[in-house]
This record gives sequence, C-alpha cells and structure tokens, in this order.
Amino acid sequence: MSAVATASPYAAIGLDMGGSSIKYGMVDSEGKLVESTFSHAPTPAGAHPDAVAQAMAQIVADLRRTTGSELAGVPVGVTVPGIVIDGVVHSAANIDKAWIGLDAVALLGGVLGRKVSVLNDADAAGMAEVFAGAGSLDGKPRAGSTLVLTLGTGIGSAFFRDGLLFPNVEFGHLEIDGVDAESRAAARVIREENLSWEQYIQRLQRYLSHVEFLCSPDLIVIGGAVSEDHEKFMPRLQLRARIVPAQYNNAAGVLGAAHRAMDH
Ligand code: BGC
Repeated sequence: MSAVATASPYAAIGLDMGGSSIKYGMVDSEGKLVESTFSHAPTPAGAHPDAVAQAMAQIVADLRRTTGSELAGVPVGVTVPGIVIDGVVHSAANIDKAWIGLDAVALLGGVLGRKVSVLNDADAAGMAEVFAGAGSLDGKPRAGSTLVLTLGTGIGSAFFRDGLLFPNVEFGHLEIDGVDAESRAAARVIREENLSWEQYIQRLQRYLSHVEFLCSPDLIVIGGAVSEDHEKFMPRLQLRARIVPAQYNNAAGVLGAAHRAMDH
C-alpha cells in the first residue's frame, strides 16, 4: 500500500438546504459541477439543525462511498435559507427557529469533521448565476446591477453591483399591501392557492414592480423550479429591467456553496 495519499479530483462539496430537500454535489478544481455527484436527499421534517447536520453527514458518507474517495480535506459549502453573518444564522422563515442565533459553521464543522463555509441560499445561487450563468457574459459577471430572485418555498434575493455581492438582502420579506411579499408571490402559493398563471403573473408583477422601484436593477434573473416555466410568465411581465431565467436552476445553490468553500 502506498504511503502517499492520492489527491482527490474533487475540490469542494456543495450542500444546498431547502425546505423539502437537500441538494448536493461536488465540483472539480475548475469549479465545474461533477454531474455524476449531483443529487438530493429529503430535508428531515421540521429541519431542526441537529437532524439536518446528521442528514448532511450521511450525504458526505454516501459521496465517499459512491466516489470511492476518502475526500480527505475536501471542504464543504452549505446554504441555509436565512440570514447568515460570519457563519451564524440570524433568521429562519421556513425552517426550525432553533437555527436563529446558531453558529452553523461550528455545528456543521464538528459533525462533518471538515472545513465548512455557510451562506444564504439565494446568495449562493446568485453567485453561481452571476459568475458563470445567466448573469454573466463571456465567463465574467455582467457590469451594472443584477438582482437574482429565487421563487420557491420563499422568495430568495441576491443583489450584485458589477459582480460584487451585497450579502443577505431579504427582498422576499418586503411588506407589500400589508403582507409579507413571499406569502403572496413565492412559487409555492401557485399550488397552495391553486392559482392560474394569470393570477400568479398579477402577483409577480406587483412584487417585481415594487422591487424594481426600490433598487433599479439592470438585469433580473429568476431562479427556482418555477423558472422552468418561464415562457408562461416572463414575457408577460412589464419591467424596465431585462428579465431572464436562471441558467443553473436546480444546481445553482450547490455550485455557489461549493465555490464559496473553494474560495475560503
Ligand atoms: C428567507 C431567505 C431565503 C429565501 C429563499 C426566505 O424566507 O428569509 O433568507 O433566501 O426564503 O429560501
């Protein structure tokens, strides 16, 4: 047996925590997603931090088994659907409130036994889109102001100026017409309230017009599963900004999280 460890072809693991599933995958040294490692596992009911940490440990163990690699020293990037400052979570709209005030880097670093970076889910998805997806041009972030919105269980937002992220922007929680915006315009309401596209478009228009008024983006990138249906609603929205569907959709959070882990 050789005493020299074989270098891992994987540069980082990305774990993207959502209300119903944890998406995961690994990137190579060029930051490209290794497609065969991209998958998802259910988020434990209620998304309590301890249960999520155990589920993530299981995912990393599965990745070690399926790749046949120890993944020694391979860092992990994790997204959380809440405000994250210096590894500490400060809000939890759609997950267990036990996340609030929790040092997620300490918890997950301990359970996963490797270096962990933690960031907001929309910031992670936004970084993937702005650096290498729908918000980029020739492999670089587009100049100007770009707003990436993820429409899913909640509304996630990531705001960039010339590729520089302004972290933890929470435009999903703007109060519009007296209610929290994501309770009316997140994609989940389509199913929950059995909305027609016509009805959902009216809600999105009200929401996006207000957001556009507040921050005047040049480009709006729409992510989340609903962006797969972009032809049904995007052409009918009237905005000054150019609006485009996300490029990575499902994998954006995993990519952004893994890139953050590589950068650290
Ligand atoms: C949270 C955000 C998150 C978004 C999408 C919102 O409820 O407050 O932090 O990015 O949902 O998951």
